[in-house]
Order: sequence, then structure tokens, then C-alpha cells
Amino acid sequence: MPVLRLFPTLVYSARLGGADRRLNARLLGECRQLRLDDAAGRRWSAKNYPGGYTSYSSACRMHRCSPTFGALEREVDRHVAALVRALQLDLTGRSLAMTDCWVNIMPRGTSHGLHLHPLSTLSGTYYVSTPAGSPGLKLEDPRLERMMAAPPRRSGARRESRPWVVLPAESGRVVLFESWLRHEVTAHPVRGERISISFNYGWF
Ligand code: NI
Repeated sequence: MPVLRLFPTLVYSARLGGADRRLNARLLGECRQLRLDDAAGRRWSAKNYPGGYTSYSSACRMHRCSPTFGALEREVDRHVAALVRALQLDLTGRSLAMTDCWVNIMPRGTSHGLHLHPLSTLSGTYYVSTPAGSPGLKLEDPRLERMMAAPPRRSGARRESRPWVVLPAESGRVVLFESWLRHEVTAHPVRGERISISFNYGWF
């Protein structure tokens, strides 16, 4: 085979697994309760997350505050370990651990623009509630800003060759990626709220 595939971008997507229908129901209840309790988060969201609620700036270590989120952390840890193996990361001498874990609630019309997660190693999201029509997670080719005279890809190009890929958001699923991978969520177009929990892992 004369064509080599080098420098792959690995993205991990799996069902959380196990006895997690009950865990998901508890998480859903706690996400909604947190929005009620977290006045500082609602104020921050009004400025920075129009129409929606996020605990990103106010309650961003939920895995330390709630046994339910702690149970999610333990489940996600297993998936993180699988991605670490696939990436062939050498973590010798330091440990990779969840540093941040926060709630995102998107009513209709809320979006989350392109961003990455600086200062973190791995990042991801667990989908708690995703009504039909919820937007997926849009991932951008990390080489995009270097593509000066690059022609567009053919319509129907293989997914791995496209400049953007949208992974469907599905309740009960966890998606993980390296924190430098830029991503966004386009405007949520339907009435039911799209609820997710995002997290960062740091290596220290
Ligand atoms: Ni993000």
C-alpha cells in the first residue's frame, strides 16, 4: 500500500455501559436541580451562554460535590483508560485524572461556538438527555488553519477525509478526545432541552 496514514486524530465514542439507566436518571435530576440552586451559574450563563445554563464557571467540579457525578467519573475513567491505550500515551510518573466536570443545558436556540480546552489533556462529554433533533458534536480537522491551497474534499468523501465531522449526541453515550481538538455545538433546534455533562482530564 503506497499511501500511509500518519498522525491520526483519535476520537472515542461508546455507550457508558453497565447499570447506567438508573445513573442517567439520577444525573438528569441533579442537572436540573443544579440549575435551580446555582444562581451564580445562571448569572454567568446569561452573559456567556445565551439562552442556556452551564455550571462551567460556578460548579465545575461536580465529580467532587456529588456522589452521583462521582459514580459517573468512575465510569468515564474506564473509557478514558481505553482511549489512553488507543493513543499509546506514556503516562509514567504522573497520573491522568478528572479535573473539571460541569453541566450544560441547552434549550432551543442555544449554541456553543468553536473552542478547545486549553490546559487539559483529554476532554469529553456524557450525554444525559438528547431529544430527537439535538445537534451532535461538530469536530474540526486540527490542520485546517494550515490548509492554504488545499482543494475542498469531494462531496461524499470518506468521513476521515472531511474537514468537519459531526458525531451524533445520543443519551447514554460518552465521547472523548484530546483537548486540543476544536469543536462546537450548533444551535439546538427543538423544544426539549439537550442536557450534557462535560469534563476535562489533566496529567499531573
Ligand atoms: Ni468543549
